[in-house]
Amino acid sequence: MSAADERLPDFPSGGCAVVIGGSGGIGRAIALQLAEHGCDIALNYFSNVTGAEETAARVRRAGHEVHVGQVDLRDEAMVKSFLDEAAQHFGGVHTTVYAAGPYIPMRFVSQQPAATFRDVMEHDAFGCYHLAQASLPHLRTAKGSFTAIVTPAIRRYATRDVLSAAPKAAIEQIVKAIAAEEGRFGVRANAVGVGVITDGLYHALVDRGDFDERFLEASRQAKALKRLGTAEEVAEGVVFLASARARWITGQTLMVDGGYAL
Ligand SMILES: NC(=O)c1ccc[n+]([C@@H]2O[C@H](COP(=O)([O-])OP(=O)(O)OC[C@H]3O[C@@H](n4cnc5c(N)ncnc54)[C@H](OP(=O)(O)O)[C@@H]3O)[C@@H](O)[C@H]2O)c1
Repeated sequence: MSAADERLPDFPSGGCAVVIGGSGGIGRAIALQLAEHGCDIALNYFSNVTGAEETAARVRRAGHEVHVGQVDLRDEAMVKSFLDEAAQHFGGVHTTVYAAGPYIPMRFVSQQPAATFRDVMEHDAFGCYHLAQASLPHLRTAKGSFTAIVTPAIRRYATRDVLSAAPKAAIEQIVKAIAAEEGRFGVRANAVGVGVITDGLYHALVDRGDFDERFLEASRQAKALKRLGTAEEVAEGVVFLASARARWITGQTLMVDGGYAL
């Protein structure tokens, strides 16, 4: 038998991949690439049902089944119900991807109200924690994987970015905890640090003036590759880490950032 014949499929044929943030820019690209790799998908929206339906329609066009539901990550019971429903609907959950997060106004710490910090932590860090806890029983059964979006700002801080860096630093530690504690059940966990890309949250940050041309040019110059990335390029990293091709990789953070955090 050749090495090619022995190669495992990238994802199991039964069960589904859950993409939280599936109505958003990065989540959509991940859901579509997972579908291209043969996965049925369960995805959520928080406020943007139209965005979720657009992602769902494209997953169906790729030939896969999709389940869509509203989830507020701050609501632990709601997150658990969504995971349990997805598992029941598809016969299991083999992959969970955390690709959600609120709009984050960019301010210096001296000007960022504590109430805003608390609110972002509730959506992002606590949200990811709720998702991890709701996913683990299903991922243990499937010997599956958990992959979370973080930011390279946890390695190389960019001013005015505390609302991104602080919750994502917590999320990286949640990922490491899962990797260390759940490996004995066959569960892997990894993170992907996303540099500035021209999709998703980018549009709100440009519209609201957080990203102006000066910032964007400085951001391009700060990257070894001298350009911003795309959601598709991020999804490539996420889908690799979630797949069986990464079966001996756990507890890692892959920076998909054009060489920013060097
Ligand atoms: N774009 C970038 O340059 C960049 C860089 C580094 C890190 N990131 C991170 O990547 C992640 C995804 O960002 P994106 O660019 O794809 O942004 P996006 O297009 O705004 O998508 C954000 C997603 O999060 C969902 N969401 C927000 N709060 C939620 C909550 N409480 N419960 C459930 N879902 C919630 C949104 O749902 P609705 O739209 O339905 O409300 C949406 O699906 C975020 O954590 C962001 O911080 C992005």
